[in-house]
Amino acid sequence: MDPYKTIISCTNQKGGCAKTTTAVNLATSLAEGNPSMGIPPAKVLLIDLDPQGNASTSFGVDKRLDVPTVYDLLMQPSDGTLNVHDYLIGPDILTDEMQRAFKNMNQDSRIPPRLKVENLYLLPSNIRLSGAEIELATKLGRETRLREALAPVMDDFDHIIIDTPPSLGLLTINALAASNWILVPVQAEYYALEGMSQLMNSIRLIQKRVNNHLKLFGIAVTMYTPQSKLSAFVEGEVRKHFGEDVFQTVIPRLMSIAEAPKDGAPVVLLKKPTKRNKGSKQYWGLAKEAHQRILARRAEYGVNPESVLRREAIERGDPEHIWDDIED
Ligand SMILES: Nc1ncnc2c1ncn2[C@@H]1O[C@H](COP(=O)(O)OP(=O)(O)OP(=O)(O)O)[C@@H](O)[C@H]1O
Ligand SMILES: [Mg+2]
Repeated sequence: MDPYKTIISCTNQKGGCAKTTTAVNLATSLAEGNPSMGIPPAKVLLIDLDPQGNASTSFGVDKRLDVPTVYDLLMQPSDGTLNVHDYLIGPDILTDEMQRAFKNMNQDSRIPPRLKVENLYLLPSNIRLSGAEIELATKLGRETRLREALAPVMDDFDHIIIDTPPSLGLLTINALAASNWILVPVQAEYYALEGMSQLMNSIRLIQKRVNNHLKLFGIAVTMYTPQSKLSAFVEGEVRKHFGEDVFQTVIPRLMSIAEAPKDGAPVVLLKKPTKRNKGSKQYWGLAKEAHQRILARRAEYGVNPESVLRREAIERGDPEHIWDDIED
């Protein structure tokens, strides 16, 4: 695994701290890109590694039991015969699912033209994955099954983002073994810091035993209540302990963010990132910071890999000039 690759696990064993919301919005905005913010579009794979399947439902994807999911990939025989691409929901179907979900919830409204994705692929999950922790326990290479499954498609995506369950069990270990980076969302509330030292210890263990490429990508303060002394206190403590690792962008607690999954799409797609739409604006701000960190990491390793989207466009024979204003 190349150390500069962008494979980010969104992880915190604490429940409900916005892991899924952050993973989904980050994956979507990095895929979509925003030239005025200096974010080029990118080919992104979002992996739902949580049996709750919340990342899948965030796009209105129906968690039926009969669809192939990440579970099948983890359980495959060790000859690695399954092809990840056969398990992905591509941008066209993802767009259909989002639009269908929006129409179901908003019968009288027109589907917003913004409600589409182009470069985003989802590896879905459902409740079958809940058996994986126990089933994996007796399997050979149980910690690195995801990494092995992803190896053949590593060069097919610019970025891979993994949403993990609220535990430090085998599923999360598989995510961290397959990642270069860990993004930790921290809810701006009193108990947020409890559990952080356990999480940091687990990261150190994974670095030592399974994946020495794993590094902290950043800590995102989420669900921040403006005017709340408690939120300000928690943010201050997080910054005091983790310094530069904490993203400048803070995600506020807002109905627009909480309600977005009901409309079948992440808030960064549903709402334009304007002053009035603070939820979308802040998640786009986080994506901008994330992109800058990705560039810094590549510079550190002295590599500037060609964008997968650009390579594919050239292979298709698309005119190259369309890339001029969106490349870095
Ligand atoms: N900034 C926010 N403002 C308001 N509600 C939010 C915000 N971020 C997330 N939520 C809501 O809080 C709940 C928990 O968020 P989310 O599912 O992203 O957390 P999680 O860490 O993935 O949870 P779990 O540990 O169960 O996987 C969800 O209902 C989500 O819609
Ligand atoms: Mg979640």
